[in-house]
Amino acid sequence: MIEIDRTHLEYLLGVEEKKFHQEHQKSYELYQRSRKSLQGGVPMLWMIRWAGTFPIFVKEGKGAHFVDVDGNEYIDFCLGDTGAMTGHAPDKTIEAITNQVKKGITYMLPTEDVIWVGEELQKRFGLPFWQFTLTATDANRFAIRMAREITQRKYILVYNYCYHGTVDETFITINADGPGPRRGNLGPPINPIETSKVIEFNDITALKQALLPGDVACVLAEPVMTNIGIIHPDPGYHDALRRFTKETGTLLIIDETHTICTGPGGYTGAFGLSPDMLTLGKPVAGGVPAAIYGFSKEIAERFHARLNLEDSDVGGIGGTLAGNALSIAAMRATLEHVLTDSAYKKAIDLSIRFTHGVESIIDKFRLPWIVKRLGCRSEYWFRETPPKNGGEAFAAIDSELDRYMHLYSLNHGVLMTPFHNMALIAPVTSISDVDYHTKVFRDAVIGLIGK
Ligand SMILES: Cc1ncc(COP(=O)(O)O)c(C=O)c1O
Repeated sequence: MIEIDRTHLEYLLGVEEKKFHQEHQKSYELYQRSRKSLQGGVPMLWMIRWAGTFPIFVKEGKGAHFVDVDGNEYIDFCLGDTGAMTGHAPDKTIEAITNQVKKGITYMLPTEDVIWVGEELQKRFGLPFWQFTLTATDANRFAIRMAREITQRKYILVYNYCYHGTVDETFITINADGPGPRRGNLGPPINPIETSKVIEFNDITALKQALLPGDVACVLAEPVMTNIGIIHPDPGYHDALRRFTKETGTLLIIDETHTICTGPGGYTGAFGLSPDMLTLGKPVAGGVPAAIYGFSKEIAERFHARLNLEDSDVGGIGGTLAGNALSIAAMRATLEHVLTDSAYKKAIDLSIRFTHGVESIIDKFRLPWIVKRLGCRSEYWFRETPPKNGGEAFAAIDSELDRYMHLYSLNHGVLMTPFHNMALIAPVTSISDVDYHTKVFRDAVIGLIGK
């Protein structure tokens, strides 16, 4: 197996940084200006956490491609970290948005489109009742609140190194001295051990132990972990999860926000899961802010029994702009015309090609890396064997190597998802886009190991 020469890696990073600076002069100028009015020079903190020393400013994008203000063109495998999984500005969504904008954006009243959407969600995910929010974070927060209210239990259960949005209860990890706040948790309202339990993914014994006392309102789970690399469940894990949650009266919330890459009904639809609740955001309205959460008839009835409509506007669930006419019109068009069976088939086939391309380079150069795929999402990780859980995956993070692969790709017109080495394929990505990535990946590796 190949060892990475760290001095050489440092040198390469210097070379790529210089190239990045030279080729992004206009972005650099804009960044200098934006720093005077925006914290960190960006509208949202994560936008500064890219591999370059400053963010590139986007001019425009369409489909799987975009152009920056310096005129550099990119193949976009980040796709707004799943928000633009449909490809940028899909025609049918744009048409619906344009029509709706002229008829009003938000009323705090339903429009007829929402009924079509609710019925479509029933078919895709098998749950009968739906509600809408603007972000997946909110969908998760509201689902958790419903679960707590119904069960009158204190804790939620999450997996080590999960990510479900900025939901306070989920920022808990298994640390050297036991469960505690996740590193970097900013201004937590309370130590998350007061609200949450945390276990490793794929650990059935830990799952049983955590649920047995009967004090967990819900398990909030990605069906396949995607935010610490792609980690698949062991065979039988989901059966055990469903069985133990049922046996202990714990509700099961499946978060499909990233695993919607599996197919039109997410992992739930593709693998026949039967959660009590399901959440999904990001691409569901083609990039327009919108998210959903759905639940079973039993949950709907139990919740309704505890709901006092008089107080519902201050109950901690809901939002003024949630379910607005524009988001709903965009969601209807996206579900009806863009995130279709045939679009998934095309994107998944391309993702298989992408994964094979990366795998062939890993094999050829005997790199101690792996690549994993879920639907139209593919990700490589710097360890020899697939991790079984978040703790193992976290231990393999190599920030320098990560930065080099990202920056090299960016300098050669390929945008990968930051914070991981993840590539999402849109239905409008092309074979040549995918093959170009394989070439760039190969060249980056050759630079790294000097062959
Ligand atoms: C699985 C999962 N759930 C929820 C979220 C939150 O999405 P948003 O930031 O759009 O609220 C994310 C964001 O990355 C996610 O990966």
